[in-house]
Amino acid sequence: MAEAEIKLDGATYTLPVFVGTEGEKGIEISSLRAKTGHVTLDIGYQNTGSCKSAITFIDGEKGILRYRGYPIEELGTQSSFVEVAYLLIFGELPTGDQLRAFTARIEQSSLIHENMHAFFNTLPPSAHPMAVLSSTVNMLSIYYQSIFVDDGNTETFEMIVARLLSTIRTIAAFSYKKSIGEPLMYPQPNMSYSSNFLTMMFSKPNIPHEIDPDVERALETLLIIHADHEQNCSTSTVRLVGSSRVNLYSSICAGICALWGPLHGGANQHVIEMLENIHRQGLSVKDCVNLAKDKDNSFKLMGFGHRVYKNFDPRAKMTKDLAKKLLSKKQVKDPLFDIALELEDMALRDEFFLERKLYPNVDFYSGLIYRAIGIPTNMFTVLFAMGRMPGWIAHWKEMHDTVPFKIGRPRQIYIGEKERKYMPQSKRKTFSLFNIFKS
Ligand code: CMC
Repeated sequence: MAEAEIKLDGATYTLPVFVGTEGEKGIEISSLRAKTGHVTLDIGYQNTGSCKSAITFIDGEKGILRYRGYPIEELGTQSSFVEVAYLLIFGELPTGDQLRAFTARIEQSSLIHENMHAFFNTLPPSAHPMAVLSSTVNMLSIYYQSIFVDDGNTETFEMIVARLLSTIRTIAAFSYKKSIGEPLMYPQPNMSYSSNFLTMMFSKPNIPHEIDPDVERALETLLIIHADHEQNCSTSTVRLVGSSRVNLYSSICAGICALWGPLHGGANQHVIEMLENIHRQGLSVKDCVNLAKDKDNSFKLMGFGHRVYKNFDPRAKMTKDLAKKLLSKKQVKDPLFDIALELEDMALRDEFFLERKLYPNVDFYSGLIYRAIGIPTNMFTVLFAMGRMPGWIAHWKEMHDTVPFKIGRPRQIYIGEKERKYMPQSKRKTFSLFNIFKS
């Protein structure tokens, strides 16, 4: 086994080097503190491997993304979301029988407890669907207590998995219907995962929604390309929260909250809002690029840049092609798509973006597809969460299956006050604003 040497205060220490199946190398530092009294410091986990994982491989320099060894381009165009979910969670592509059983289980679990509807009835129409989603997913641990603990039983785990994959779709559609004041449309048996979702979103009583197969395929592709992305912020959150051995529903709820942020999954909503602003205010794309480069301004080009991809994001290529195809098929002229193309073209010729290796990420074009399908902007991140569900579950399972199972607990370097003596309130000098104004 390869080893790394570290020199500290005149002494040399050796540390083991672990090599992954694709040749990635990591220095194992868990014994470093015991040997040397030092911890490693890596703010934002920019260069820290938090686990060994067999689920997803990314080569950010080459723009490669594979689930369990299968290229995203093949899965995204040829597989179904349910098949990919099975692959991610259970490790192998399912046989015909396994896929039929898994699909049936998902469809049988699509209803939420009727009492949960009372919660939907209390929501203000302005409630953000991500807040509704995270709250409701956590609520599953109230209504399905009998099966929320991973008791090591495969049957129990599969029931929880099916419930999560299925009810997230129902919850998403119900929260939309509630927000626009329309009656809830219940899930239908014998429909594909995506058709069922589109039906719940867009059908009205006695007016069934007609499914366009191209729209259905586009949605399947979007769900697949979002299904996992190794140790991103929300997945790491699911692992960290789940490492305390809290139930799967609550771990996923934490992941949904992490995903909501604009630097992560929330970026898809912010991309469209940015493009709408440019369009509405008649700004030039050049002004927007210049603003993103201005260090005195906090504005960023949403949908650009990635911690791992430093060449291109393969998912962005797929979403760009898909957006083009869908818009031309529907003969829709979306001015925001033209602005996005112009923005990408200008940024990719600009030194600032080239030097920093900033390319469009998955969120840059995905919103334009959701828009073409008729999904409202504030629901975009919910669609991301629906897609990411199998990945979160797969990582939670992989972590629980790992021996030894360790609670996640990073160290820190303390930079606060040294020890000082406590002084009671009556003897402390106060510097409140009130005192400043008085003096
Ligand atoms: N627009 C303008 N400048 C940028 C951008 C951007 N979108 N992204 C990064 N930079 C600059 C950043 O200011 C920094 O410049 P400097 O070196 O002069 O200080 C440099 O590029 C490196 O950026 P960073 O913020 O240190 O990189 P990071 O790895 O910490 O952050 C990121 C990655 C995705 C959070 C960041 O690129 C970003 O904020 N992008 C916009 C939000 C976004 O699209 N998020 C979706 C990510 S992909 C989907 C997902 O996985 O959730």
